[in-house]
Amino acid sequence: MCGIVGYVGHGRALDVLIGGLKRLEYRGYDSAGYSLQTDHSLTVKKCMGRVADLENMDPGPAACATTGIAHTRWATHGEPSTINAHPHSDSTGRISLVHNGIIENYKSLRKKLLKKGISFDSDTDTEVLAKLVGSEVEKGKDLFTAVKDALAQVRGAYGIAVLSADQPSTLVAARYGSPLVVGVGQGENIVASDVAAIVSHTRNVIYLEEGEIVEITAGAISSSASDPKMSRDRIQHVDWDLAEIEKDGFDHYMLKEIYSQPESLRNAIRGRLDMEHGTAHLGGLDLTAEDMQSIRRIVITACGTSWHSGLIGKYVIENLSRVPVDVEYASEFRYRDPVLEDGTVMLVISQSGETADTLAALRLAKKRGIKTFGIVNVVGSTIARETDAGVYIHAGPEIGVASTKAFTSQTMILSLIALALGRAKGNLTRKEGQSICRDIMAIPDKVESILAGSEAIRDISRQFTYANNFLYLGRGVNYPVALEGALKLKEISYIHAEGYPAAEMKHGPIALIDDLMPVAVVAVKDAAYEKVISNIQEVKARRGRVLAIATEGDREIENLADWVLEIPSVDDMLVPILSVIPLQLLSYYVAVARNCDVDKPRNLAKSVTVE
Ligand code: G6P
Repeated sequence: MCGIVGYVGHGRALDVLIGGLKRLEYRGYDSAGYSLQTDHSLTVKKCMGRVADLENMDPGPAACATTGIAHTRWATHGEPSTINAHPHSDSTGRISLVHNGIIENYKSLRKKLLKKGISFDSDTDTEVLAKLVGSEVEKGKDLFTAVKDALAQVRGAYGIAVLSADQPSTLVAARYGSPLVVGVGQGENIVASDVAAIVSHTRNVIYLEEGEIVEITAGAISSSASDPKMSRDRIQHVDWDLAEIEKDGFDHYMLKEIYSQPESLRNAIRGRLDMEHGTAHLGGLDLTAEDMQSIRRIVITACGTSWHSGLIGKYVIENLSRVPVDVEYASEFRYRDPVLEDGTVMLVISQSGETADTLAALRLAKKRGIKTFGIVNVVGSTIARETDAGVYIHAGPEIGVASTKAFTSQTMILSLIALALGRAKGNLTRKEGQSICRDIMAIPDKVESILAGSEAIRDISRQFTYANNFLYLGRGVNYPVALEGALKLKEISYIHAEGYPAAEMKHGPIALIDDLMPVAVVAVKDAAYEKVISNIQEVKARRGRVLAIATEGDREIENLADWVLEIPSVDDMLVPILSVIPLQLLSYYVAVARNCDVDKPRNLAKSVTVE
């Protein structure tokens, strides 16, 4: 949610800010703005729309500024508009502030400031914070102290960067509940919501702690934390390849990410399979075989696509290890009073590692004494740091808002956990474990072979360009795949789509079926095959149009379905990693045919750091 960049150094701040915003645009893209500092004044430019529109604005003489802050917005308070865009200013216009997060008590703060005669231009919570900092500065405080004292009055979540016209070549940044990273360069420093905005300048970064406030100049960073001088031990090295955050010849990040799945899956598996003992080793979990044996229940918590991978995890873990698994929407879990008995552990799944609801669910579990394990993509993210232990999925940066490669890698990691647990619990023999290991190792090549058939998927997708509704069906471990297929389609093509367990169709959705209603069915040759075939018959009897995801060589289904997309056969529990691929491609091609902005779908954002 919202991207922030701040720069102080010797280079042209504007270039760093615009370049950084482009990298962060996946976080929000309804409006953008910057503030540049020159000769004791600030030049603020902002606009509705994309960073490219901001780039076209003329900054005047401030173009040569070497200090500045910038923002790309995903609206929470106040509609997308130029007035509501960040940066926001104090009453004198001598302070500029950009913010990611939500100030929960902004209404009461606003009332207090109004009473002091301070007026507001925008509908945002952020403007209240800017005015609050300004009113602290007016008391004669330096910017760092003013920010600190203003934040002491605030309740909510924030990542902020602040500039004052009166403190040249200095910016102040702070975080609580929203991510913020400082890139440590040579005679220049950058602050950003995400390392993606930093890596082209420096790979040395410091992740700010919860509640930390820093003052940043070109040559120094000082902090409110226990180590005010910010010792060099806090610097971490980011070893990303820049190519990972480029489109690399693909039309969209989403397509590139779909195509990178053979590689991302190899990275998820690498070094984690033990063929000899027919098990998996996930060093990051830091669990001995005895620890695993003592696990009596697993609670999985996540949001969105990560929740879908969690639901697959339930089927796979219960099947391979017989450990009961509950899968909870983090947003629900955090606001009820969950029963968490002894022997329960929590798996927290998040691509970004920053999702506000998921983080809150994790904190609740920790408070209740439950051991927590992260399945996270972004290294150094808040969830990765706050879980007791965890596994990185190593999918590499995911930039397309609709999650694809993170989903398959999360599902893969859950399968590895299920395998390790199944072996530790004695539910799987070594031979069975070895057979699963072999199937896991073959997955990346099988994904490659599905991708090689993408032309056929593109051709079929043309049938659905003008569809208004879509139903996705699956049973057992493929039911979450139906949910994920429907989510992908609605996210990027804006076609209404629903995922259902196939047998539930007759309890309602069947009423919707007619010759205009496409129904995608995962109908692979697994234990539920015959039942799914019956469900397809029910659709066909109502003149519905069926697109089947079927096992290679299945001739029966060809006579039944209108279109068939084949996937190679694999162990039943691993099918979702394959069956989701044609559905990802289908939604991609439909969205492209409908001229939708695939990587930046309307109203969405990649990293949801607000409730
Ligand atoms: C947003 C994204 C989804 C993602 C969800 C959870 O809604 O658009 O793609 O699945 O957040 O994000 P996380 O980073 O926690 O996996």
